[in-house]
Amino acid sequence: MSFETILVEQKGAVTLITLNRPKALNALNSQVCAELVAAFAAFEADETQGCAVLTGSGEKAFAAGADIKEMADKPAADFFLQDFFADWQAKLVKTTRKPWIAAVNGFALGGGCELAMMADFILAADTAKFGQPEIKLGVAPGMGGSQRLTRAVGKAKAMEMCLTGRMMGAVEAESAGLVARIVPLADLLDDALKTAQTIAEMPRMAAIANKEMVNAAFETTLDQGLLHERRLFQILTASADKAEGMAAFVEKRAAQWQGR
Ligand code: HXC
Repeated sequence: MSFETILVEQKGAVTLITLNRPKALNALNSQVCAELVAAFAAFEADETQGCAVLTGSGEKAFAAGADIKEMADKPAADFFLQDFFADWQAKLVKTTRKPWIAAVNGFALGGGCELAMMADFILAADTAKFGQPEIKLGVAPGMGGSQRLTRAVGKAKAMEMCLTGRMMGAVEAESAGLVARIVPLADLLDDALKTAQTIAEMPRMAAIANKEMVNAAFETTLDQGLLHERRLFQILTASADKAEGMAAFVEKRAAQWQGR
């Protein structure tokens, strides 16, 4: 598969996907949208791959938002009829069952922040800056910012950021719960790949189930979420990897996972 706006590499069991429009600060256009959908579908389908990392090329930006130059003259009817950027929710977030990490290496603004928040978690460079500055363009978040940012950092900060367009640095983002960890920029990719490798080496069914049950916390009542968790736990007890994992613990040896 060949792409023009992203780079896709396999590093052992980890797929590294790099947004690759550095001159435009990795702005997200329709081609990036389609290519990312295809790259994530390939990652999901490839049994040798257990976790993915999404990052931006260059040291300045993860992604500075949807491509303003592409949007500037686009008629409103086209945004509506094409259901602009709806594909990432339907064909990327919903269909990627294996875990993936956003390694945010600089600006993550507008659609860039929204894309990072679609990941299972964010690792942020100490230089990362997050924001939803769409209001300054006369619009508003359009691919999840008002919903995911609010769930991540709460109403006060999300509302302030959307209404003023101000950016949040890495330290504030970590203390607000938007990012899992801060890493010096020079170490970000290595750290993200190592973290992804750790996840990729986990028993595959358990990794998918863990992701699914944490995500259920955002979609259900507590009772429904707890039931979902218990049922997934109970299903995992039937897996070969549960038998192996528990036997290995008792026998004080390393587990040999089958991924099922
Ligand atoms: C297109 C962009 C871009 C964007 C930067 N560039 N952001 N092109 N779309 N979102 C381009 C610039 O035009 C410029 O190209 C080059 O990248 C470098 O950017 P500069 O502005 O010269 O860099 P700098 O002065 O360092 O400022 C960095 C910045 C600024 C603060 C990140 O670029 C900025 O404010 N960008 C826009 C951020 C934004 O508003 N994002 C939200 C977009 S709306 P040239 O060719 O001129 O040198 C959105 C909606 C999502 O995301 C919902 C959709 C459904």
